[in-house]
Amino acid sequence: VIPIVDFGSQYVQLIARRVREAGVYSVLVSPETPIEDLRRIRPKGIILSGGPSSVYDEGAPRCDPALFDLGVPVLGICYGMQIGCELLGAKVASAEAREYGRARLRVTTTSDNELFKGMPDETSVWMSHADQVRELSEDFIPVATTETCPYAAVRHRERAFYGLQFHPEVTHTPHGAEILSNFIFGVCGCSGTWQMSNFLEMSIEQIQAQVGDGRVICGLSGGVDSSVAAALLHRAIGPRLTCVFVDNGLLRKGERAFVEATFRDHFDIDLRVIDAGAQFLADLEGVLDPQEKRRRIGHRFIKVFKSASEEIEDVGFLAQGTLYPDVIESGQGHSGQAANIKLHHNVGGLPEQLGFDLVEPFRQLFKDEVRQLGSLLGLPETMVWRHPFPGPGLAVRCLGEVREDQLAILREADEILIEEIVANNLYRQTAQVFAVLLPVRAVGVMGDGRTHEQVIAIRAVESQDFMTADWARIPFDVLATISNRVINEVRGVNRVVYDISSKPPATIEWE
Ligand code: XMP
Repeated sequence: VIPIVDFGSQYVQLIARRVREAGVYSVLVSPETPIEDLRRIRPKGIILSGGPSSVYDEGAPRCDPALFDLGVPVLGICYGMQIGCELLGAKVASAEAREYGRARLRVTTTSDNELFKGMPDETSVWMSHADQVRELSEDFIPVATTETCPYAAVRHRERAFYGLQFHPEVTHTPHGAEILSNFIFGVCGCSGTWQMSNFLEMSIEQIQAQVGDGRVICGLSGGVDSSVAAALLHRAIGPRLTCVFVDNGLLRKGERAFVEATFRDHFDIDLRVIDAGAQFLADLEGVLDPQEKRRRIGHRFIKVFKSASEEIEDVGFLAQGTLYPDVIESGQGHSGQAANIKLHHNVGGLPEQLGFDLVEPFRQLFKDEVRQLGSLLGLPETMVWRHPFPGPGLAVRCLGEVREDQLAILREADEILIEEIVANNLYRQTAQVFAVLLPVRAVGVMGDGRTHEQVIAIRAVESQDFMTADWARIPFDVLATISNRVINEVRGVNRVVYDISSKPPATIEWE
């Protein structure tokens, strides 16, 4: 295992993920982790992450210098390099020019540069820093420079400490993966045999240890994360898991049947489906404002889920499929350092209201890693590769007032859209595709008659992380088929438009 000391960089999980991709298990640890605990996990090497602080700031996170005496190689990245160098006797100060973005890196030494083995002498790297190492003692060897950063890479003469001012973990550093591999394999001597199946075994053991004889409840949404969480919990504790699926009346066509078929029929999980559509729709009557819709849906969900959980005896734990990006976007990162970027997702709220202990096996994982795990657990491909669907469901895709007749139109159109996207092999290439029902009427002509009906907008985006997105270049003939079918088959729609806005400045959802 290679632990990563988390100083709060926005990229910290990306480092962990790169290490795992290389076939070595990696976890994040807090800078306050006692050295004894680190020793106990028998690390093959340690990585110190970047972070937003300045080494000399009051209260800046620091690590125990004894970490350098563990006898394993240490790689410091950005702030991690600065803190490592400072602890080992170098001077750090703010740089004359802050450096953000691409920079040209020149490797200046021919010996002692294990990290750059097999790489060109000049390459492009991604920088993001205000401070840098300004004075090196005799104990260090400068390894590489950039225009404004004399010590862009260094190593210690006696100790196996390596520092990189740039970020090898991001794709903007084209040789970054090789640099990390050189550290993991060349310097630390890891074997690279770790796989997702090892994670599976380890999480099963951890869940069993955490839960003991207890009973766990898991809220299923029909999405990838909660589905994989349920499948994993089921593998770990079998019949002591109860899943609750709230039918809020805002689901897509066939969604409830799909969840029932997967979990009740296939996995034989104790699944309770709560029929609460009428309550949700009553709450939404006359509500036009998107945030107000979210608020009411959120409140109702908590009420319904709470009363469902009270029906189940002896529940002590709540399982959630919280992913690392959810943790970081809601500002509850490991060391509490990462900035709060986004709030509207449903990470918080529920647990506090229910008072259960949380089981969150994916807090260290990214979505595609959870998908791998889902496949290992035997979830169907159609579940593992599902596009994300927002908690408030069709309510935020039915613009204006949410009513049963409007939802029915939207469901029909959405089903046709997805059918065509799947039939044309575009589902896996797109991050999210859905229909939006606009609360306006347009004029049309059908047969000999004039029509005055509603408009469906198609939203299809490509995105890695859903923080930014571009509209997908769906071929015109596929759009033509979709448009034809929606207008012919869905009563109440006489026009289809295609959304060509990117995020930012638009968002993925229309509300
Ligand atoms: P936006 O519209 O903010 O969406 O660009 C980014 C991603 O988040 C999803 N989304 C939500 N998910 N509750 C959720 O669980 C919400 O209120 C919500 N709003 C947006 C959206 O579908 C996209 O994947």
